[in-house]
Amino acid sequence: SDVIPFLGPHQAGITTPDVASALVVALDVTARSTEELQKLFQILTQRIEFLTAGGTWPPLEPKYPPTGSGIFGPEFPADYLTVTVGVGASLFDDRYGLVAQKPIHLKQMPNFPNDRLDPHLCHGDLLLQFCSNHNETNIHALRDILKQLAGLVVLRWQISGFQQPDADPHPHRTTVRNLMGFKDGTANLDPQDKNLMNHLVWVQRNSGEPAWAVGGTYQVVRVIRMFVEFWDRTALEEQEEIFGRSRDSGAPLGYKHEEDIPNYSQDPQGNIIALDAHIRLANPRTSATEANRILRKGFHYSRGVDKAGQLDMGLLFMAFQQDLERGFETVQNRLNGEPLEEYIKPIGGGYFFALPGVPTKNSYLGQPLL
Ligand code: HEM
Repeated sequence: SDVIPFLGPHQAGITTPDVASALVVALDVTARSTEELQKLFQILTQRIEFLTAGGTWPPLEPKYPPTGSGIFGPEFPADYLTVTVGVGASLFDDRYGLVAQKPIHLKQMPNFPNDRLDPHLCHGDLLLQFCSNHNETNIHALRDILKQLAGLVVLRWQISGFQQPDADPHPHRTTVRNLMGFKDGTANLDPQDKNLMNHLVWVQRNSGEPAWAVGGTYQVVRVIRMFVEFWDRTALEEQEEIFGRSRDSGAPLGYKHEEDIPNYSQDPQGNIIALDAHIRLANPRTSATEANRILRKGFHYSRGVDKAGQLDMGLLFMAFQQDLERGFETVQNRLNGEPLEEYIKPIGGGYFFALPGVPTKNSYLGQPLL
């Protein structure tokens, strides 16, 4: 079946398998009261449940606007659609009396040294992450949700992403390559490993977080422009040194296979894998840095041509973790100043808290918060 179940302790779209198309949409909330905010989350939950199951639209009435956008006609497919809802720090201001409920690490995404953040591509009260196998499915779902939430939200920014999902069944091997030509996701956490997800991704009880947040996770979104014309004129040797992996095989430098695990203690000077190689900084593989590991999710994006006549494309980077500071921020701070920075520029994104799942029918997303 092409249905990804909606109900569960965690939201779908985080540890569920990779799909071909993503649409990430940030919204600001215009609800005028806590009651309206509740209504917003109730409608949102109901629509996500309906849309992710696939189905049939009610018959059309000539005197009313059609029920759906009609992109698929009267019947629409499930198409592995997931819609994952996150909340930004700005939702926890005094508008809705939620100040004391804010997840303890949630804040507005700061500027890192290499960032050139475009204010039109950053932050937001709500984040909707649509993932499915076709752009049409994501757009169909987005338009329905926006129509149903009229008056309660306004659009802030959006970006769409795509990829060739991995057909390889090995959990620790990937055929997915990013737009720089390197295999991406090789050393990612295995999302099927429930213990690991509880250890690093899902917020647990007695963690200092508000009780409603248990089962949720912090979601980082980074829109990272790649200077691909410049990259395409860079020597292979330098490209491989920058990542610390071989381009074709994906193996760590000095190793044969993509899934080989580099042993940095045997190369303390960085003669084989440079000390400032992307993979070595991102995960030094010491017992002290084990807790900093994050669940990554990436898509390519391509937005046309910039004002200087250069290709405007890059990586829609997302990461999920139990603790923003222990996870993404620690990793990003280690990466600050890495040689890869010459070829990339983060231009947008934000920090969000992906809500816990909806465990049973008749409850709704955000209910324990409200
Ligand atoms: C690994 C590319 C940004 C964190 C990798 C790998 C590639 C790559 C090719 C090796 C394969 C793999 O294990 O997935 C890129 C590109 C980026 C980018 C092109 C920007 C355009 C980031 C950012 C972070 C990050 C912003 C987090 C702050 C990691 C981590 C690993 C990794 C944790 C795994 C390292 C390991 O466990 O060995 N990246 N990356 N990357 N990257 Fe990135």
